[in-house]
Amino acid sequence: MVKAYKPTAEQKAVIEAAKGGGDLKVKAYAGAGKTSTLRLVAQQLTGQRGSYLAFNKEIADSARRGFPANVSARTVHSLAYASAPTWLTARINLPSEPPHELAARYGFGPIEVPTISGKNAEVAPFEVGRMIADGLGRFCRSADDTPQPFHIPVDEKIRDDAADWLREQLAPSIGRLWAESVNPRGLKAIQPDVYLKVWAQSNPRINADFILFDEA
Ligand SMILES: Nc1ncnc2c1ncn2[C@@H]1O[C@H](COP(=O)(O)OP(=O)(O)O)[C@@H](O)[C@H]1O
Ligand SMILES: [Mg+2]
Repeated sequence: MVKAYKPTAEQKAVIEAAKGGGDLKVKAYAGAGKTSTLRLVAQQLTGQRGSYLAFNKEIADSARRGFPANVSARTVHSLAYASAPTWLTARINLPSEPPHELAARYGFGPIEVPTISGKNAEVAPFEVGRMIADGLGRFCRSADDTPQPFHIPVDEKIRDDAADWLREQLAPSIGRLWAESVNPRGLKAIQPDVYLKVWAQSNPRINADFILFDEA
């Protein structure tokens, strides 16, 4: 159930700004009333078709219950899934490659690096594979056109200079994994962020008069 309440002065200001059109960004803490404000905005724009987008399925599902009928609520991934080519989306069901096998296939063994404590530590192949796969995920969720060294997540106990070196070593592998991921003849599972990025890079148009983007 969605309770009726009086919009606060801040919520009123957001609604007025939204009615004026154009892009609008609201930044507020958890529980501050952001989703409720989007609902209030939607209720003011009933003559137009809206698209409510969230990154998380639970948030999209609960919005579907609370928003007026002129607004369709979905996750960004489901929107991307619907417009991505089937040969690509079908790959989420293929067997996935475990991180240590990815590392081995790319020629990585254990890597020894200095830590902030002064001792050396070994980054195991499993961890290396995970850094490459996570790096691909971070690239896919970024606005960047190509994979970059800074997309590689490195454990904070690794010394800064070594972390930079490690990123440089592993960055080409994100590029390789990305190329394999979008190759129509690829045989391994892709992460959903891959079709999200393919969709984003196609400069899609979201079919709506207004877009409400929650938890951006
Ligand atoms: N103007 C208001 N008056 C009273 N309660 C409100 C008001 N706006 C939001 N709420 C309530 O505050 C709670 C948090 O709101 P919500 O929109 O979910 O926040 P957020 O999306 O920022 O986490 C909800 O229970 C909502 O019903
Ligand atoms: Mg919310």
